[in-house]
Amino acid sequence: MAGKRVAHRFGGVWTEIKLKALNDYLWFYQNALKNKGFETWYIDAFAGTGDRHAELKQGDIFENSPIEHVERIFDGSARKALKINPPFSHYWFAEQHRGRARQLEKLKDEWPHDIQVRQGEANTELRALFNQQPWSGGATSGRQRAVVFLDPYGMSVDWETLEVLAATEKVDVWYLFPRAAVIHQLANDISGIDEGKRRALARIFGSDDWEGEFYSAKPAQASLFESEPVMSKGRHATPEDIAAFARKRLGKLFCYVSDPLPLIVNGHDYFELYCLSNNRYAISLIKRGVEHVIRKYTPASRRRSVHQEDAR
Ligand SMILES: C[S@@+](CC[C@H](N)C(=O)[O-])C[C@H]1O[C@@H](n2cnc3c(N)ncnc32)[C@H](O)[C@@H]1O
Repeated sequence: MAGKRVAHRFGGVWTEIKLKALNDYLWFYQNALKNKGFETWYIDAFAGTGDRHAELKQGDIFENSPIEHVERIFDGSARKALKINPPFSHYWFAEQHRGRARQLEKLKDEWPHDIQVRQGEANTELRALFNQQPWSGGATSGRQRAVVFLDPYGMSVDWETLEVLAATEKVDVWYLFPRAAVIHQLANDISGIDEGKRRALARIFGSDDWEGEFYSAKPAQASLFESEPVMSKGRHATPEDIAAFARKRLGKLFCYVSDPLPLIVNGHDYFELYCLSNNRYAISLIKRGVEHVIRKYTPASRRRSVHQEDAR
Protein backbone atom coordinates (compact mmCIF):
# COMPACT_ATOMS: atom_id res chain seq x y z
CA MET A 1 0.00 0.00 0.00
CA ALA A 2 1.51 3.31 -1.09
CA GLY A 3 0.57 5.53 1.92
CA LYS A 4 -0.31 9.22 1.74
CA ARG A 5 1.01 10.97 -1.36
CA VAL A 6 2.85 14.31 -1.19
CA ALA A 7 0.69 16.74 -3.18
CA HIS A 8 2.53 18.22 -6.18
CA ARG A 9 0.18 20.72 -7.81
CA PHE A 10 1.22 21.94 -11.23
CA GLY A 11 0.14 22.38 -14.82
CA GLY A 12 -3.16 22.32 -16.61
CA VAL A 13 -4.63 21.11 -19.87
CA TRP A 14 -1.32 21.77 -21.65
CA THR A 15 0.39 19.43 -19.17
CA GLU A 16 -1.94 16.57 -20.05
CA ILE A 17 -1.25 17.15 -23.76
CA LYS A 18 2.50 17.17 -23.11
CA LEU A 19 2.35 13.97 -21.07
CA LYS A 20 0.10 12.21 -23.58
CA ALA A 21 2.57 13.05 -26.35
CA LEU A 22 5.46 11.69 -24.31
CA ASN A 23 3.46 8.63 -23.33
CA ASP A 24 2.60 7.81 -26.96
CA TYR A 25 6.24 8.10 -27.93
CA LEU A 26 7.33 5.83 -25.05
CA TRP A 27 4.88 3.16 -26.24
CA PHE A 28 6.12 3.51 -29.79
CA TYR A 29 9.77 3.39 -28.68
CA GLN A 30 9.51 0.34 -26.48
CA ASN A 31 7.57 -1.59 -29.10
CA ALA A 32 9.89 -0.56 -31.93
CA LEU A 33 12.96 -1.64 -29.94
CA LYS A 34 11.54 -4.81 -28.44
CA ASN A 35 13.48 -8.00 -29.22
CA LYS A 36 16.34 -5.98 -30.74
CA GLY A 37 18.71 -6.65 -27.83
CA PHE A 38 18.88 -3.07 -26.54
CA GLU A 39 19.06 -2.10 -22.89
CA THR A 40 16.52 0.72 -22.75
CA TRP A 41 16.49 3.51 -20.19
CA TYR A 42 13.80 6.00 -19.28
CA ILE A 43 15.57 9.04 -17.84
CA ASP A 44 13.45 11.76 -16.24
CA ALA A 45 15.60 14.57 -14.87
CA PHE A 46 12.83 16.81 -13.47
CA ALA A 47 10.70 13.94 -12.30
CA GLY A 48 8.39 15.50 -9.68
CA THR A 49 6.68 12.89 -7.49
CA GLY A 50 5.13 10.56 -10.06
CA ASP A 51 1.76 12.24 -9.56
CA ARG A 52 0.13 15.48 -10.63
CA HIS A 53 -2.42 17.00 -8.29
CA ALA A 54 -4.87 19.41 -9.88
CA GLU A 55 -7.95 21.30 -8.79
CA LEU A 56 -10.79 20.74 -11.23
CA LYS A 57 -14.07 22.56 -11.65
CA GLN A 58 -17.11 20.33 -11.46
CA GLY A 59 -20.82 21.01 -11.85
CA ASP A 60 -23.05 22.88 -14.24
CA ILE A 61 -25.38 25.72 -13.29
CA PHE A 62 -27.59 24.91 -16.29
CA GLU A 63 -28.13 21.41 -14.95
CA ASN A 64 -28.71 22.75 -11.48
CA SER A 65 -25.65 21.08 -10.02
CA PRO A 66 -23.52 23.47 -8.00
CA ILE A 67 -20.07 24.45 -9.26
CA GLU A 68 -17.41 23.10 -6.95
CA HIS A 69 -13.69 22.53 -7.02
CA VAL A 70 -12.40 19.02 -6.53
CA GLU A 71 -8.85 17.75 -6.15
CA ARG A 72 -7.85 15.06 -8.65
CA ILE A 73 -4.65 13.06 -8.93
CA PHE A 74 -3.30 12.28 -12.40
CA ASP A 75 -0.29 10.21 -13.37
CA GLY A 76 2.83 12.34 -13.75
CA SER A 77 5.59 11.46 -16.20
CA ALA A 78 7.34 8.91 -13.94
CA ARG A 79 4.21 6.92 -13.26
CA LYS A 80 3.16 7.01 -16.93
CA ALA A 81 6.59 5.69 -17.94
CA LEU A 82 6.41 2.86 -15.41
CA LYS A 83 3.16 1.70 -17.05
CA ILE A 84 4.72 1.33 -20.51
CA ASN A 85 4.60 -2.21 -21.84
CA PRO A 86 7.10 -3.69 -22.49
CA PRO A 87 8.79 -1.85 -19.63
CA PHE A 88 12.15 -0.12 -19.96
CA SER A 89 15.16 -2.06 -18.66
CA HIS A 90 15.96 0.83 -16.28
CA TYR A 91 14.16 3.85 -14.87
CA TRP A 92 16.25 6.79 -13.66
CA PHE A 93 14.62 9.75 -11.93
CA ALA A 94 16.22 12.97 -10.66
CA GLU A 95 14.42 15.51 -8.53
CA GLN A 96 15.87 18.38 -6.53
CA HIS A 97 13.08 18.68 -3.96
CA ARG A 98 13.69 16.29 -1.06
CA GLY A 99 10.03 15.47 -0.32
CA ARG A 100 9.30 14.81 -3.99
CA ALA A 101 12.36 12.60 -4.33
CA ARG A 102 11.19 10.62 -1.30
CA GLN A 103 7.85 10.15 -3.02
CA LEU A 104 9.63 8.83 -6.10
CA GLU A 105 11.48 6.31 -3.88
CA LYS A 106 8.09 4.88 -2.91
CA LEU A 107 7.46 3.88 -6.52
CA LYS A 108 9.96 1.08 -5.90
CA ASP A 109 7.41 -0.53 -3.55
CA GLU A 110 4.76 -0.47 -6.26
CA TRP A 111 6.75 -1.59 -9.28
CA PRO A 112 9.12 -4.52 -9.85
CA HIS A 113 11.21 -2.53 -12.33
CA ASP A 114 14.78 -1.34 -11.82
CA ILE A 115 14.25 2.21 -10.50
CA GLN A 116 17.02 4.59 -9.48
CA VAL A 117 16.19 7.89 -7.78
CA ARG A 118 18.72 10.70 -7.48
CA GLN A 119 17.82 13.56 -5.20
CA GLY A 120 19.79 16.39 -6.76
CA GLU A 121 20.16 19.02 -9.42
CA ALA A 122 19.15 17.74 -12.84
CA ASN A 123 22.14 19.00 -14.87
CA THR A 124 24.66 17.76 -12.32
CA GLU A 125 22.99 14.38 -11.97
CA LEU A 126 22.64 13.88 -15.73
CA ARG A 127 26.28 14.71 -16.36
CA ALA A 128 27.32 12.29 -13.61
CA LEU A 129 25.13 9.55 -15.09
CA PHE A 130 26.55 9.91 -18.59
CA ASN A 131 30.11 10.08 -17.25
CA GLN A 132 29.92 6.65 -15.69
CA GLN A 133 29.41 3.09 -16.86
CA PRO A 134 27.54 1.87 -18.79
CA TRP A 135 27.13 5.23 -20.55
CA SER A 136 30.71 6.50 -20.45
CA GLY A 137 31.86 4.13 -23.21
CA GLY A 138 30.92 6.79 -25.79
CA ALA A 139 28.84 6.69 -28.92
CA THR A 140 30.38 3.56 -30.41
CA SER A 141 30.05 1.14 -27.48
CA GLY A 142 27.19 -0.52 -25.65
CA ARG A 143 23.61 -1.50 -26.33
CA GLN A 144 22.14 1.26 -24.18
CA ARG A 145 19.44 3.45 -25.63
CA ALA A 146 17.36 6.03 -23.77
CA VAL A 147 14.49 8.43 -23.86
CA VAL A 148 15.39 11.47 -21.75
CA PHE A 149 12.61 13.77 -20.57
CA LEU A 150 13.58 17.35 -19.63
CA ASP A 151 10.51 18.96 -18.09
CA PRO A 152 11.67 21.95 -16.04
CA TYR A 153 9.40 24.72 -14.77
CA GLY A 154 11.65 27.35 -16.36
CA MET A 155 15.11 27.89 -17.86
CA SER A 156 16.89 25.17 -15.89
CA VAL A 157 18.42 23.07 -18.65
CA ASP A 158 22.08 23.99 -19.31
CA TRP A 159 23.34 24.01 -22.87
CA GLU A 160 26.28 21.85 -21.67
CA THR A 161 23.81 19.18 -20.58
CA LEU A 162 22.32 19.09 -24.08
CA GLU A 163 25.88 18.77 -25.43
CA VAL A 164 26.47 15.72 -23.24
CA LEU A 165 23.19 14.13 -24.36
CA ALA A 166 23.87 14.84 -28.04
CA ALA A 167 27.38 13.35 -27.79
CA THR A 168 25.99 9.93 -26.76
CA GLU A 169 24.28 9.59 -30.17
CA LYS A 170 22.02 7.10 -28.40
CA VAL A 171 19.35 9.10 -26.66
CA ASP A 172 16.13 10.76 -27.78
CA VAL A 173 15.49 13.87 -25.75
CA TRP A 174 12.04 15.33 -25.16
CA TYR A 175 12.76 18.90 -24.15
CA LEU A 176 10.18 21.37 -22.90
CA PHE A 177 11.61 24.65 -24.16
CA PRO A 178 10.35 27.53 -21.99
CA ARG A 179 9.58 30.14 -24.66
CA ALA A 180 7.69 32.53 -22.34
CA ALA A 181 10.41 32.46 -19.66
CA VAL A 182 13.07 33.28 -22.28
CA ILE A 183 11.02 36.18 -23.68
CA HIS A 184 10.58 37.44 -20.14
CA GLN A 185 14.38 37.93 -19.94
CA LEU A 186 14.48 39.90 -23.19
CA ALA A 187 13.71 43.50 -22.26
CA ASN A 188 12.56 45.86 -25.03
CA ASP A 189 15.77 47.84 -24.64
CA ILE A 190 19.12 46.06 -24.31
CA SER A 191 19.95 48.19 -21.27
CA GLY A 192 17.19 46.31 -19.44
CA ILE A 193 19.14 43.05 -19.61
CA ASP A 194 21.28 42.79 -16.49
CA GLU A 195 24.11 40.32 -15.84
CA GLY A 196 21.78 37.73 -14.29
CA LYS A 197 19.55 37.72 -17.39
CA ARG A 198 22.58 37.50 -19.68
CA ARG A 199 23.84 34.48 -17.75
CA ALA A 200 20.43 32.78 -17.95
CA LEU A 201 20.25 33.41 -21.72
CA ALA A 202 23.82 32.19 -22.32
CA ARG A 203 23.03 29.09 -20.26
CA ILE A 204 19.96 28.16 -22.28
CA PHE A 205 21.26 29.13 -25.75
CA GLY A 206 24.91 28.16 -25.26
CA SER A 207 26.07 31.37 -26.94
CA ASP A 208 25.74 35.15 -26.92
CA ASP A 209 24.55 35.28 -30.53
CA TRP A 210 21.04 36.07 -29.35
CA GLU A 211 22.01 39.73 -28.91
CA GLY A 212 22.84 40.24 -32.58
CA GLU A 213 19.78 38.23 -33.64
CA PHE A 214 17.23 39.94 -31.43
CA TYR A 215 18.48 43.53 -31.02
CA SER A 216 19.39 46.30 -33.43
CA ALA A 217 20.59 49.85 -33.03
CA LYS A 218 17.96 52.52 -32.59
CA PRO A 219 18.53 56.21 -32.07
CA ALA A 220 17.62 56.99 -28.51
CA GLN A 221 15.67 60.12 -27.66
CA ALA A 222 17.93 63.16 -27.45
CA SER A 223 18.56 63.88 -23.81
CA LEU A 224 17.72 67.28 -22.39
CA PHE A 225 21.32 67.72 -21.30
CA GLU A 226 23.31 66.13 -24.13
CA SER A 227 23.58 67.64 -27.58
CA GLU A 228 24.19 64.22 -29.33
CA PRO A 229 21.40 61.63 -29.17
CA VAL A 230 22.62 58.46 -27.39
CA MET A 231 22.42 55.29 -29.50
CA SER A 232 20.69 52.34 -27.96
CA LYS A 233 19.58 48.87 -29.04
CA GLY A 234 15.95 47.80 -29.21
CA ARG A 235 14.48 44.35 -29.54
CA HIS A 236 13.11 43.80 -33.03
CA ALA A 237 12.67 40.02 -32.68
CA THR A 238 9.11 38.75 -32.38
CA PRO A 239 8.22 35.76 -30.17
CA GLU A 240 8.22 33.64 -33.34
CA ASP A 241 11.74 34.86 -34.24
CA ILE A 242 12.89 33.91 -30.74
CA ALA A 243 11.35 30.44 -30.99
CA ALA A 244 12.93 29.99 -34.44
CA PHE A 245 16.34 30.99 -33.06
CA ALA A 246 15.99 28.42 -30.26
CA ARG A 247 15.18 25.75 -32.80
CA LYS A 248 18.15 26.74 -34.94
CA ARG A 249 20.45 26.53 -31.90
CA LEU A 250 19.17 23.04 -31.03
CA GLY A 251 19.98 22.03 -34.60
CA LYS A 252 23.66 22.83 -33.91
CA LEU A 253 23.76 19.89 -31.48
CA PHE A 254 21.22 17.39 -32.77
CA CYS A 255 20.86 16.11 -36.31
CA TYR A 256 17.13 15.70 -35.72
CA VAL A 257 15.03 18.47 -34.19
CA SER A 258 11.32 17.76 -34.47
CA ASP A 259 8.66 20.28 -35.25
CA PRO A 260 7.67 21.74 -31.91
CA LEU A 261 4.45 20.77 -30.17
CA PRO A 262 3.13 24.17 -29.05
CA LEU A 263 1.80 24.29 -25.50
CA ILE A 264 -0.60 27.11 -24.85
CA VAL A 265 -1.23 28.56 -21.42
CA ASN A 266 -4.06 31.06 -21.02
CA GLY A 267 -4.08 31.72 -24.77
CA HIS A 268 -0.33 32.32 -25.07
CA ASP A 269 2.39 30.18 -26.63
CA TYR A 270 4.21 29.34 -23.44
CA PHE A 271 6.32 26.26 -24.10
CA GLU A 272 7.44 24.22 -27.08
CA LEU A 273 7.97 20.51 -26.70
CA TYR A 274 10.71 19.16 -28.98
CA CYS A 275 12.11 15.75 -29.64
CA LEU A 276 15.85 15.91 -30.31
CA SER A 277 18.07 13.08 -31.41
CA ASN A 278 21.56 12.49 -32.66
CA ASN A 279 21.06 8.80 -33.29
CA ARG A 280 21.68 9.05 -37.02
CA TYR A 281 21.26 5.31 -37.66
CA ALA A 282 17.71 5.33 -36.34
CA ILE A 283 16.59 8.73 -37.57
CA SER A 284 13.92 7.52 -39.98
CA LEU A 285 12.33 5.33 -37.29
CA ILE A 286 12.49 8.10 -34.69
CA LYS A 287 10.98 10.60 -37.15
CA ARG A 288 8.12 8.25 -37.91
CA GLY A 289 7.20 7.94 -34.23
CA VAL A 290 7.71 11.59 -33.36
CA GLU A 291 5.93 13.08 -36.36
CA HIS A 292 2.89 10.94 -35.69
CA VAL A 293 2.77 12.19 -32.10
CA ILE A 294 3.28 15.87 -33.00
CA ARG A 295 0.62 15.70 -35.74
CA LYS A 296 -1.80 13.98 -33.38
CA TYR A 297 -1.56 16.50 -30.55
CA THR A 298 -0.94 19.85 -32.28
CA PRO A 299 -4.60 20.55 -33.18
CA ALA A 300 -5.78 19.74 -29.64
CA SER A 301 -3.03 21.86 -28.21
CA ARG A 302 -3.93 24.86 -30.41
CA ARG A 303 -7.65 24.48 -29.67
CA ARG A 304 -7.43 24.38 -25.91
CA SER A 305 -6.53 27.76 -24.52
CA VAL A 306 -8.55 27.24 -21.37
CA HIS A 307 -7.55 28.71 -18.04
CA GLN A 308 -8.44 25.76 -15.88
CA GLU A 309 -9.11 22.11 -16.26
CA ASP A 310 -12.65 21.01 -15.81
CA ALA A 311 -13.71 17.66 -14.51
CA ARG A 312 -15.13 16.20 -17.69
C1 LIG B 1 7.13 20.54 -14.13
S1 LIG B 1 7.68 19.65 -12.74
C2 LIG B 1 7.97 18.06 -13.44
C3 LIG B 1 6.79 17.22 -13.48
C4 LIG B 1 7.00 15.81 -13.95
N1 LIG B 1 7.72 15.74 -15.20
C5 LIG B 1 5.66 15.15 -14.07
O1 LIG B 1 5.10 15.11 -15.18
O2 LIG B 1 5.16 14.66 -13.06
C6 LIG B 1 9.33 20.17 -12.51
C7 LIG B 1 10.04 19.45 -11.36
O3 LIG B 1 11.42 19.72 -11.43
C8 LIG B 1 11.91 19.95 -10.13
N2 LIG B 1 13.10 20.80 -10.34
C9 LIG B 1 13.15 22.13 -10.58
N3 LIG B 1 14.40 22.52 -10.84
C10 LIG B 1 15.17 21.41 -10.75
C11 LIG B 1 16.54 21.15 -10.97
N4 LIG B 1 17.38 22.13 -11.30
N5 LIG B 1 16.98 19.89 -10.82
C12 LIG B 1 16.13 18.88 -10.49
N6 LIG B 1 14.81 19.06 -10.28
C13 LIG B 1 14.34 20.31 -10.43
C14 LIG B 1 10.79 20.59 -9.36
O4 LIG B 1 10.93 20.34 -7.97
C15 LIG B 1 9.57 19.88 -9.97
O5 LIG B 1 9.24 18.75 -9.23
